[in-house]
Amino acid sequence: MNSEPIYDKGRHLGPTTPSSWVTRFAPLAPLDGPVLDLACGGGRHGRHFLERGHPVVLLDRDVSDVQDLAGRANVEIIEADLEGGDALPFAGRQFAAIVVTNYLWRPILPRLAGAVAEGGLLIYETFGRGNEQYSRPRNPDHLLRAGELLEAFGKELQVVAYEHGLRRDPKPRVVQRIAAVRGDAPVPIDPVAT
Ligand SMILES: C[S@@+](CC[C@H](N)C(=O)[O-])C[C@H]1O[C@@H](n2cnc3c(N)ncnc32)[C@H](O)[C@@H]1O
Repeated sequence: MNSEPIYDKGRHLGPTTPSSWVTRFAPLAPLDGPVLDLACGGGRHGRHFLERGHPVVLLDRDVSDVQDLAGRANVEIIEADLEGGDALPFAGRQFAAIVVTNYLWRPILPRLAGAVAEGGLLIYETFGRGNEQYSRPRNPDHLLRAGELLEAFGKELQVVAYEHGLRRDPKPRVVQRIAAVRGDAPVPIDPVAT
């Protein structure tokens, strides 16, 4: 077993601390399948799930910031362009959880829910309209319309939590975020992290 740290905080330019939205709902992910950290960047969320004992798939067009995890048991790294064509680089696969943060490419949204396994979890959090008043991103292509994640996932998945609004800490920004599961059984809305 590799005893190197799962997160070397010095390596990455982006945020290294997992989002509180992701850590809140991470306990809903079943342990029996892989977790996909899509557009993973430095892999802060994949690393969080790895620490929780999940196998993880880290996918980005630039995987240089997760190379420290290459070869580690339970880690698969996929270098792929999500915007490069029709075929998704994870087509045909199912995941115990899919996590997407601070990335938006609308054409893949309708296909993400289908990659969530029965009982599995989807967590999505990125910038929403209104953010342009405060900081980048300002391009509407990168900003979710009010309710957009609900429209994208609410028909196929059970929405556990959804928010859209202004966050002030650590700096003002408008975010939209959803946590949803595949299945009808009620799940804890405030799962206890273990
Ligand atoms: C703002 S970072 C977010 C990283 C990570 N999700 C996080 O929240 O820490 C956006 C990520 O999207 C990736 N990305 C942008 N366009 C992409 C594409 N066409 N295919 C795959 N990844 C892409 C970038 O390489 C970058 O790592």
